[in-house]
Amino acid sequence: MAVIAEHEIALARSADAQAIAELSREAIEYGLPWRWTPSRVLLALHDPSTNVVVSRRGDHLLAGFAIMQYGNETAHLALLAVRDAARRQGLGSALLAWLEATARVAGIQALRLEVRASNPGAMAFYGRHGFVESGVRVGYYEGVEDAIRMTKALGGQPS
Ligand SMILES: CC(C)(COP(=O)(O)OP(=O)(O)OC[C@H]1O[C@@H](n2cnc3c(N)ncnc32)[C@H](O)[C@@H]1OP(=O)(O)O)[C@@H](O)C(=O)NCCC(=O)NCCS
Repeated sequence: MAVIAEHEIALARSADAQAIAELSREAIEYGLPWRWTPSRVLLALHDPSTNVVVSRRGDHLLAGFAIMQYGNETAHLALLAVRDAARRQGLGSALLAWLEATARVAGIQALRLEVRASNPGAMAFYGRHGFVESGVRVGYYEGVEDAIRMTKALGGQPS
């Protein structure tokens, strides 16, 4: 808890785009072409149907971020990453909780995401947060790797 208290979660600013894109490249897109470049993150920041949230320390260092895209009934968690040195301290859970609460207020019925088939740690993280596997998307990552699709029904009271 003490570690979370040292961090704030807030909507990202344009100045965060570079750090977000670099963290995506190293923590999520490793071994793949870099798709979430700074310019794409900037577009997401200015897209009214997308939330980009960051977790930062008091000294403003970006510790993690998440990007969620909202449809009419479902929301897609496009990216979520926490810096290596800041993992297993609750930050990923805090970012996800922020987005999930926002989705509930927006009347979203379900969250969905894809995770690399070679990433059991992330699957365990999402499983811990109520996501269940709902399919495989063969070759989803540039034909290099399959994706495991995971979903979470919202509805009812906030968890
Ligand atoms: C997945 C990720 C976002 C989790 O962030 P985090 O801040 O470390 O997560 P939390 O500390 O909130 O973890 C909460 C719980 O999730 C589970 N969990 C998290 N990481 C896990 C791992 N690597 N292996 C198994 N379970 C894990 C645990 O139950 C953990 O509780 P515990 O630490 O008390 O055991 C982080 O590991 C990460 O950035 N990974 C690289 C990028 C990535 O895979 N993103 C997701 C796919 S886009």
